[in-house]
Amino acid sequence: MEKKKILTDNLEIGMVTAEAVYNFSNHLIISSNTTLTPDIINKLKYYSIKSVKILFPEDSGKIPQNDREDGKDLTYFEKIQVSKEFKVFETEFNSCVNDFKGELNDLVVKNGEGIIDNMLGHVDSIFKKARNPLHLLDMMLCIRSYDDITYAHSMNVALICNIIGRWLKLSDDDLMVLVTAGLLHDIGKLKIPPEIIKKPGRLTNEEFSIIRKHPEYGFDILKNKNLDSRVANAALQHHERYDGNGYPDKLKSSEIDFFASIVAVADVYDAMTSNRSYRKGICPFDVLEQMEREKASYEPVVLHKFINNTAESYINNEVILSNGERGRVVLLNKNFLSRPLVIAGNNTYDLSKMNDLYIENII
Ligand SMILES: [Fe+2]
Repeated sequence: MEKKKILTDNLEIGMVTAEAVYNFSNHLIISSNTTLTPDIINKLKYYSIKSVKILFPEDSGKIPQNDREDGKDLTYFEKIQVSKEFKVFETEFNSCVNDFKGELNDLVVKNGEGIIDNMLGHVDSIFKKARNPLHLLDMMLCIRSYDDITYAHSMNVALICNIIGRWLKLSDDDLMVLVTAGLLHDIGKLKIPPEIIKKPGRLTNEEFSIIRKHPEYGFDILKNKNLDSRVANAALQHHERYDGNGYPDKLKSSEIDFFASIVAVADVYDAMTSNRSYRKGICPFDVLEQMEREKASYEPVVLHKFINNTAESYINNEVILSNGERGRVVLLNKNFLSRPLVIAGNNTYDLSKMNDLYIENII
C-alpha cells in the first residue's frame, strides 16, 4: 500500500485513511484504516482539517500523481488553487468586486442605505462560498492578481473584519457595522489621483503625503451619510497605531476607536499578504511573524486573537523548514505564536528559540 496526502476537498467516499486524524486540541477525529463516508468527510471539513493521508493499493492505478513538472508535491496553496471550491470562490469574488467598484464610486456622491445593503450582500455571498472562516483566509491568499487594488483590498479587509468580529463574538448589529467599516475604510483613496495610487515603484515624498490624506478624505465623505459613527472613525483612524506612531493624529491605545483597531489589523494583514505571490511560496507564518514583531502597533486583544486563531489552523500541517527538513507543526508557543514547535524526523525544533530556522512553506 502507498500513502498519499489528499486535500480534504478532493477526498472521495470509500477512500481509506492511512493515519489517524486529530483536531487542533489533539482529540481524535477518525482512526487510521477508516473508510470514508459522506458524514466523515463533512466532519473533517467541520474541523478544518486541510488534508488526510490515504492508503492506495500499489497496483490500483489510482494513486494520484504529482502534477508538477519538477516531480515535487504541490504545496498546500497550489492544491487549493486547483480545487473546485476555490474556482467557485474566485468567480464569486471577482464578480462581487466588480459590482462593489461601481457601488463604492456611487457612494462618494450619493447618500444611499440601499448601496450599503448591496455591498454587505456581496461580502455575505463571498463568505458563504467558503466552508469556514479559516479556509476563506487561505483561499484569499490564492487570489492575488487583481488590478483594481483599492476595491479588491477593501473587499478583503471587509471579509477579514467579518472573521475577526466573529472570533471576538460581536453582536450581529456590531458585526454589520464592522464589515461596513472594512468595506469603506479606504473610500478616501477615490479622491487621490489614480496615477499616484497605481504608480509602480517608489513614491516621492510629495506623493506620499498626498496618499496620507486619504483617511481625512474618507472621514469627510462618510461623516454626513447617516452611518454608525464607527464607520467614519475607522476611515479616519485605520492608520493610527496603538503605540502612537500612526497618522493622521498620532492617537494611541484607547484614543483609537476599537473598530478602527480591528480594521487596522485586517488592513495590514491584507497589505502584507498581497505583496507576496503564492507562486513565490507565500508562507502565512512569515506574515504572522512580521505582525508579531510589530505588535506594539496593534490593539493587543485583536492582534492576539487574529494571530492565535490563524496559526492554530496550521497545527498538524506538514511544513518545509528553511534547512530543507520536512516536519509537522505540533504545538503553538503562546508567547511567540508564529514560531511553533515542529517535529521533523527524530528532531524536535522549538522555533521560538531558533533565530536561524523558520518555516519556509506549508505543504
Ligand atoms: Fe488606508
